[in-house]
Amino acid sequence: MDIDWAALRAAAVDVAGRAYAPYSRLRVGAAGLTGDGRTVTGCNVENASYGLTLCAECGLVSALHATASAAAPFLVAVAVVAGDGDPLLPCGRCRQLLQEAGGPSLMVDTAQGPLPLAELLPAAFGGADVAARREQGEG
Ligand code: THU
Repeated sequence: MDIDWAALRAAAVDVAGRAYAPYSRLRVGAAGLTGDGRTVTGCNVENASYGLTLCAECGLVSALHATASAAAPFLVAVAVVAGDGDPLLPCGRCRQLLQEAGGPSLMVDTAQGPLPLAELLPAAFGGADVAARREQGEG
């Protein structure tokens, strides 16, 4: 699938303008291209109880599921930017979130150009590990 990175970055910049970030004053916007060619977005939403902050990627992944027609929607490309319009690398938790939503081949924009998520989150933990390592039997 062709990825229009300029359009994806522009969508991320646009949604960063809707961020609620009065505490850190770091606005973040995330835009993702879905497997069926749609663009979904999210922005960070902070809270006076700082630990409850929602990263932009959380909103993006929620929008992915909330707007999907498929049971297991997936992302093929993501652009995350700060309020200055430049790429922002996803935090560790959000790399894990993106892994579940797009897998290791998900392309992530960086200041050096797009990289597969596998390079940002090598040796990732995933659902297969849960299935392989859970205890067998009842309770
Ligand atoms: N933030 C994101 O939205 N995504 C990231 O991947 C990194 C951090 C937000 C959370 C918080 O509102 C602000 O940036 C400062 O950490």
